[in-house]
Parts: sequence; structure tokens; C-alpha cells
Amino acid sequence: MSAVSKSETQLFMVNTVAKPEFEELRPGIKAPAKETILTPRFYTTDFEAMANMDITENKAELEAILEEFRCDYNRHHFVRDEEFEQSWDHIDGETRQLFIEFLERSCTAEFSGFLLYKELSRKLKDRNPLLAECFALMSRDEARHAGFLNKAMSDFNLALDLGFLTQHRSYTYFEPEFIFYATYLSEKIGYWRYITIYRHLEKHPEHRIYPIFRFFENWCQDENRHGDFFDAVMRAQPQMLDRPRTFWQKIKEIPLSLSGKKWARYFMVCWLPPKLWCRFFLLSVFATMYLNDLQRAKFYAAIGLDAREYDREVIAKTNETAGRVFPVILDVDHPEFYKRLERCVENNAKLQKSASKTGAS
Ligand SMILES: [Fe+2]
Ligand SMILES: [Fe+2]
Repeated sequence: MSAVSKSETQLFMVNTVAKPEFEELRPGIKAPAKETILTPRFYTTDFEAMANMDITENKAELEAILEEFRCDYNRHHFVRDEEFEQSWDHIDGETRQLFIEFLERSCTAEFSGFLLYKELSRKLKDRNPLLAECFALMSRDEARHAGFLNKAMSDFNLALDLGFLTQHRSYTYFEPEFIFYATYLSEKIGYWRYITIYRHLEKHPEHRIYPIFRFFENWCQDENRHGDFFDAVMRAQPQMLDRPRTFWQKIKEIPLSLSGKKWARYFMVCWLPPKLWCRFFLLSVFATMYLNDLQRAKFYAAIGLDAREYDREVIAKTNETAGRVFPVILDVDHPEFYKRLERCVENNAKLQKSASKTGAS
């Protein structure tokens, strides 16, 4: 998917001198972290199906959201002030490494949103102008977020070449329904992650070791608005949230052509009820965050947070928020929930250990 032009991606490139602890693509440009099951992904979808989506059922709400996007409340927010103008060499050793990893992961996730939304805005422009403009304005926000994070990386003498990333990362295909479940959740979990860190550091300014966290309050409002947009689109497509059908209705929908893609779509989207998919996406988004964050607990400790407590708070809030649109949420208070997640953490640690022994990613 060639979603960005060269001039757009050049905006994100910063040339500085790199520290030796990370592999470099070229001087000052960090080699992207190896892709694993837990790293942020780049997505592509069925743009034709997206363009054909009928949103009339919730058009008024979507128009109101578009008006909000046009206001561009954060137009002047992402401006680096004098607090950034100093040496950050006192953040060193493992903390520095974890800090750079945090910035890289966040930047990659924001950039992944930018690429997907930009491509959707281009593909839908003539067919579904309301959605296309919403996607264009959300891609504007994500480009700002990614650019700001990449500039922060340059404070640690490294940056990402997002143009290189665009061309060399693999793209995961998701059915449009899955794009909506997954992006809705990632926007809302993003909101809760940013605001939870912001509120914690507001109470404990002694742990605010780097100025980027000051920007999280307005920043997270962008993510909240993006999440509300996906919420409104799903409400415009009620079959995405509730699809009661009899056995015979399902049989009637069996695709007559033998194309593999149509069969896959039939079984995944038509046969299995949305409730199941919502549960699946809630669980995978929560588990991915939990495993990632616990692996980097020392980063959270550096800003005075306990990674477990932080994640539990973010999971509880996101789960509750998702309940406003999803037909089902997870019972995260069930005693087995975190017990089983902890087992995943242990298994992930074992996998990583054996991967590092064999040199696999
Ligand atoms: Fe963002
Ligand atoms: Fe967003």
C-alpha cells in the first residue's frame, strides 16, 4: 500500500548522531524494531467494501463529528518549547533504552494509524466524501502525533525513517468490520493510556522526567474523538454489533463462487456473531498491551508507575468505555482473568528467552 508520498515521509526524518546500543539503518536513523506478534502492525482492508458502506442511519452524528475534526483544536498544540532544549544524557543505561523503545513503539503505532486513515481518505474520496474527510482529518492528527514522537526520539540522538517503514513493513489484511473493532479499541485504549499517565504525573510532577508527557492531556482528546468516530460508524452499521440470524439465513448467505477470499469472509464475518469478534478483539488488545508493558515494567517504574496497576486501570476503563457500543465486554474482575494473563506473561518470557538463544525474532 503506497499511502504516503516521499515529501510527506521526509517530514518525519531527522538526522542526528546515533548511540551505539541500537542497530542503525544509517547514521542517526534507527533500524525498525523486529516485527513480532506483539509489535504495532500496519493494516490494509477491502477499500471497495468501505466505499460502499451505507452510513445514512447515523449520518447526523457523523456530520457533527466531522465539524469537530474541522475545528482542529490541537492545531497549535504540538509545538516543542524551551523545556526540550537541553541534554537528555542523564537518562541513561536501561532507562534510556526503554525510553527510546517507548517512543519508537508509540511513533510506529501513530504512524500506522496515519497510513491507514490517509489511504482510506484517498480511496473513499469520490464515493463516500463524508467518511473520506473524517479519515483525512484523523490522518492529519496521527501525522502530528507520529512526527512529535519522532522528534522526541531525536532528543535521544535517534530517529525513525518512516518512509522506509512504509515500504518495508508487511501489511496485515483485515476485513472492514475488523478494522472498525480494532481501531475503535486502539483509539480508546490510546486515550486511556495517555490520560492515565498525564493524571499520574500531574499528581507526582517529580516523576515527569521528560516534557512530552505534558502534552498528553490535549493529545488524548484527539484519540478520544477518533474513537467516537468509529463508535458512530459502527452504530451506522448495526449488523457489525448485532447480527442475529437463523441457521437457514446463514445457509442462504453461503457464497456461490468458490473464491477463497469470499469463503473466508463468509465464515469469519457472516457465520460467527459480532459478539464473539468483539470479545476476541477486546481480549487481544488487552493481552497485547499487558504483555508489552510488563516486559517494559522498568520504563513505567522510571516515571513512578507500577506497570501492572497502570495496565489494570487502563483495561478497566477501556472495557467500560467499549460497553457503550460493543454488545459485550469482558469480565475483567473475574479472578481467572489476570491469573491467565499472568500465565501468558510467563510463557512470553520463556519464548523470548528461547528466541534470544536461537537468534530468532
Ligand atoms: Fe494518535
Ligand atoms: Fe488516533
